[in-house]
Parts: sequence; structure tokens; C-alpha cells
Amino acid sequence: MHAVAVFPADKRIEVIDDHPEPKLERDTEVLVDMLEIGVCGTDREIARFEYGMPPEGQRHLVLGHESLGRVARTGSAVTRVKPGDLVVTMVRRPCPHETCRACRAGRSDFCFTGDFKERGIKQLHGFMTERVVDDQQYMHVVPASLRAVGVLVEPLTIAEKALIEVWDVQERLPWTAAGSGDGRGQHAVVLGAGPVGLLGALALLLRGFEVWVYSRGAGDSDGAKWVTSAGARYLSSQQFTAAQIAEQIGNIDLVYEATGAAKVSFQMLEVLGTNGVFVFTGVPGRRGPSECEEDLLMRNMVLKNQLVFGTVNAGPDAFANAVEDLASFHTRWPEQLGSLITGRHELPAAIELLTGPPHGLKNVVSFDR
Ligand code: BGC
Repeated sequence: MHAVAVFPADKRIEVIDDHPEPKLERDTEVLVDMLEIGVCGTDREIARFEYGMPPEGQRHLVLGHESLGRVARTGSAVTRVKPGDLVVTMVRRPCPHETCRACRAGRSDFCFTGDFKERGIKQLHGFMTERVVDDQQYMHVVPASLRAVGVLVEPLTIAEKALIEVWDVQERLPWTAAGSGDGRGQHAVVLGAGPVGLLGALALLLRGFEVWVYSRGAGDSDGAKWVTSAGARYLSSQQFTAAQIAEQIGNIDLVYEATGAAKVSFQMLEVLGTNGVFVFTGVPGRRGPSECEEDLLMRNMVLKNQLVFGTVNAGPDAFANAVEDLASFHTRWPEQLGSLITGRHELPAAIELLTGPPHGLKNVVSFDR
């Protein structure tokens, strides 16, 4: 089969045509025809040979972890999906260690040991190929009405996991209708206007938060117009500092970071409000030490009861919420949602998407089926 593969030892990336056809080996497995595979920053890092690891004993890794597929065939014990269903397959697989309570509890997204595997990223081939096989337990059915946008489920799970955790920790505030997922009356800042940030902004709007998106693009950029049309407000970092935006907003209850840029994130942390929560989702490159206002940050965290946490990957609950929310987005913001996918490309074009200059919002590799 055709597949997009990196060969890290040779610093090579190419479309291969001899990727073995996957077979159903267990009765709980499912054969899926790939429909669309999204390209994200992690894929581009792997394509620069800075991240990613082939399966043990192999020289290449097939890329792709954001996927939408259609079930072609199922093993005899499969009950979760049926042929014809649209499915999104989860990325991470548990580590083998008995002592890892997270993996043993089905929550490899919290793996303690780091010996988890990730499809398209770490020691398991990804989805940028014609067909894949996986166990039914990792698959989530997507309604047929979401065929055009289902590939956005995986990037949305980042925000969904973050929000599940936000409700958990904010249950400490008895007057907020915590566990209920009601953000009305709360101010949220989204850092970054890439797909992870914009999908996060929609998830927050859906829950009733007042949302401000803070990003590099000018105040009249396409991104800014997108944000405004969805019902959030846009603040350009060309125009406003973090301190100035805090002045406009009032108490900042939540910051959802989706830039991977540490400097601007820590500037925003300095203006997080009383009882506020700051969620990091980006993974910055390591550029060595730099100064930050540690006294101010520490004072604020204590005197303002703040919480700061990071989140990676996502569990089954976040995938289920992502499918549900995507359906709501599709009803409420059909145009905005569709316009997040700025390019559909055939498999060979993936090389340019992965290695060329970045453009657009979400580019996807599409199989014509
Ligand atoms: C993926 C996650 C993964 C993380 C770290 C992200 O791009 O969406 O599923 O856990 O990279 O490898």
C-alpha cells in the first residue's frame, strides 16, 4: 500500500508503495479505509526528524495521527462499530508495566512510565496510508453528517480533555455550577489562533464562556474575522500586551494556551485572575533559560488561589465529548467549522505539507472514496 513514511536514521521522508496490507488478526479488530488524515505541528516536527520513533526493528514510521476512516470489515467479536461506520481512532496505546496505574486503568494519556506507544508518532505506524487495522476499543463512531469535518475530532480532543480537567478542579468553587460544564459568566482567553486554539474557542463558547482569542495576526486578519464571526473577541498581540488585555477583560477565569510559545504564555500567566486556571497544551522547543517574573508568579498563585496545569493526549471520555461537540459546532457554526480545513490534498502532496512552508489552518490528506 501507499503510505507517507519518515526514515529518521537516513533523514528521509517519502511516499512508499510497499507498506504491508494490514490484516485482521484478532476477533476484536477492525479494518478501516482511511478517508482523511490531518497534518499538525507534531507531524512537521517528526518530518524534521526532531521527534517520532519507528516501530521496534523497523527503519521507517508511517506518519499521521489525526484521522477519519470508514469501517470496511470487522472481526467476529466486534460490537462497537459496523461496516460503513465513520470512525476516528485514538492515538495512544498503553505501556506494558503492571505498576502503571494509569495505563492499567485504561488511561494511557496519563501514563507514568513514558513507555506508551502512539500511532504515527512513537513506535506504531500512523494513519497516512490506505487502510489500517486496530482494536475496536480505540475507535469512536462519528455520525455520517460529520463526514466533511470528522478529521477535526482528534485535534478537538485536546480541548475536551482540558475542559474535563477544568471542571474537575473548579469543583473547589462551590458557587460555580462546576461539574455541569456551565461557563456562563466566566471569562476565558485562548492563546493562539491555530486549529487547536480555534476548536478550543468553540468548545468554550458552546459552554457559555465569554471568549477572547489572543494571537499574532493583525486585528483585521482572516483569523480575527473568523473569531468575531463565531461570537468571540479577537485581540492582536501586535496591538495589545497581556496587561492591557487583562484590563479590558476583568478577572480572567481561564486561559487555554494553544501556541507552544512559552514567553507569551508566561506573560499571560502573570495576569491570570483570582481563582483562575491556566491550561498549557503547547510543546515548545527548548531554547535554554530565560528570565521570568518568578516572584510575581508565585505571589499570584498563592494569593489568588490559582491553578496551572498541562495536558497531553486524550482519553475515551474526551473523544466521546469531541464527537458530540463537533456535531453541535456543525449545527451552530457550519461555515466557520468547515473553513478550518483550508486544504485537501492527495497523498503525494503530503511531503510538501510536512516539509514546506506552513500555510492555511488545517491541511488534510484525502482519499477519494
Ligand atoms: C497528539 C497527541 C500526542 C502528542 C504527543 C499531539 O500532536 O495530538 O495525541 O499525545 O502529540 O506526542
